[in-house]
Amino acid sequence: MRDLDRLVRQDHHWVHPVTALLQHEAEGPCIWKSAQGIHLTDIHGKRVQDAFSGLWCVNAGYGQQSIVQAARHQLEQLPYATGYFHFASEPAITLAARLAALAPKGLNRVVFGQGGSDAVDTAIRLIRYYFNATGRPEKKQFIGLQRGYHGTSSNGSGLTALPLFHRYFDVPTPEQHHIPSPYTYRHPDGPDESKVLLSTIKALENKVAEIGPDKVAAFICEPIQGSGGVIVPPQGFLKAMRETCDRLDILLIVDEVITGFGRTGPMFACESEGVSPDVLTLAKGLTSGYAPMGATLISEQIYAAIAQAGSDGTPLGHGQTYAGHPVSAAIANATLDLYLEGGLLENGRRVGAYFQERLKQLESMAGVGEVRGRGMLAALELVQDKQTKVKPAAASQLGQHVLKYAFAEGLVFRAFADDILGFAPSLNYTEADVDVLIDILKYSIEKAVSVQA
Ligand SMILES: Cc1ncc(COP(=O)(O)O)c(C=O)c1O
Repeated sequence: MRDLDRLVRQDHHWVHPVTALLQHEAEGPCIWKSAQGIHLTDIHGKRVQDAFSGLWCVNAGYGQQSIVQAARHQLEQLPYATGYFHFASEPAITLAARLAALAPKGLNRVVFGQGGSDAVDTAIRLIRYYFNATGRPEKKQFIGLQRGYHGTSSNGSGLTALPLFHRYFDVPTPEQHHIPSPYTYRHPDGPDESKVLLSTIKALENKVAEIGPDKVAAFICEPIQGSGGVIVPPQGFLKAMRETCDRLDILLIVDEVITGFGRTGPMFACESEGVSPDVLTLAKGLTSGYAPMGATLISEQIYAAIAQAGSDGTPLGHGQTYAGHPVSAAIANATLDLYLEGGLLENGRRVGAYFQERLKQLESMAGVGEVRGRGMLAALELVQDKQTKVKPAAASQLGQHVLKYAFAEGLVFRAFADDILGFAPSLNYTEADVDVLIDILKYSIEKAVSVQA
């Protein structure tokens, strides 16, 4: 016990990511000790079912031995190799080729990084480089969606459009802009999806016109806005954004850090609308969270221009020590094997349909305004009044209470600050696992709503 007390005291040295720091110091950490399948166990031996895949990343579930063995083998054989100066390693080369083959058509070149934030940062840097190198240096402005999340790099955090990631950080910069989220449930033109879609297209056109048509470099969006509250845009959204970007002569960056690797059904959400972006950002499910890794895939056209800019022998001045890390790459290759040959993608599709069906049934409950999602990604939005969609009083912390009751019963998911509950079960869930999730969630909502009333 004394060891555990010491651990809690030592945790004060760790400034935790995206955490209310003083509250955390007062309450102390929840320290996970181990995990297996879809369950996490803390240092006190409490075991809970993970309905959020860690941080929407452990798509393959915990304890996958083929991944562990691939990592061990790579650690023994070659624990590190740089990708700088023409050096390379086998797993990183193989992974680049596999990603190029799996990605939407035209995305043929892979820039490796450490995670989602730097995948987005790389996208921004390379697009700037591309326009400067091709004689259009005035194209520097970026547009994103309100409620979008694109990580916390000093550049990307300005494309993120959630207030806490801006406050005191001096972002967005004057070169970063946002248009309204296609949030059908609360959009002034909702609930008609086609009207919300038209309004989003118009908003992008207007924003580009306002900034100056020759000044906009790119538009960035997630296929489903994750951290903004799992906002599922209208059908045809990605396709419409592709067409609009083409018409306005701006590049399209699709951020699939969450939606990639089977999270919504197909390998990439872009597939469901047959869309090829100019730049695609990936992380999380790439390694199923077993090691840090991200990737930025770029079109052949962008690559060719960037390569040509160095035709005098100047190296591309972008990279990190751990870009294309061989252990992360070996883990990613083993994870891809599980998605493809191991049947995980297929299982995720089947169980994802069942999960959506079961979760949707909770929409009729008191206190539930909307259930939305796709595949193994979903949200349940709590309201005080179903008709007016008025949110629960902030002080009641309804979402946090639902999570607290669920946790006591052995289930963990994510309660966003504005009473939206987020779910991202791993792709190895069974129908029976979904039933457990739904039963505990239903009980927890009923309890929280009745205590509040
Ligand atoms: C869409 C999206 N982009 C980028 C990021 C940042 O990724 P990371 O936390 O790996 O830096 C996230 C993280 O949740 C994300 O959801």
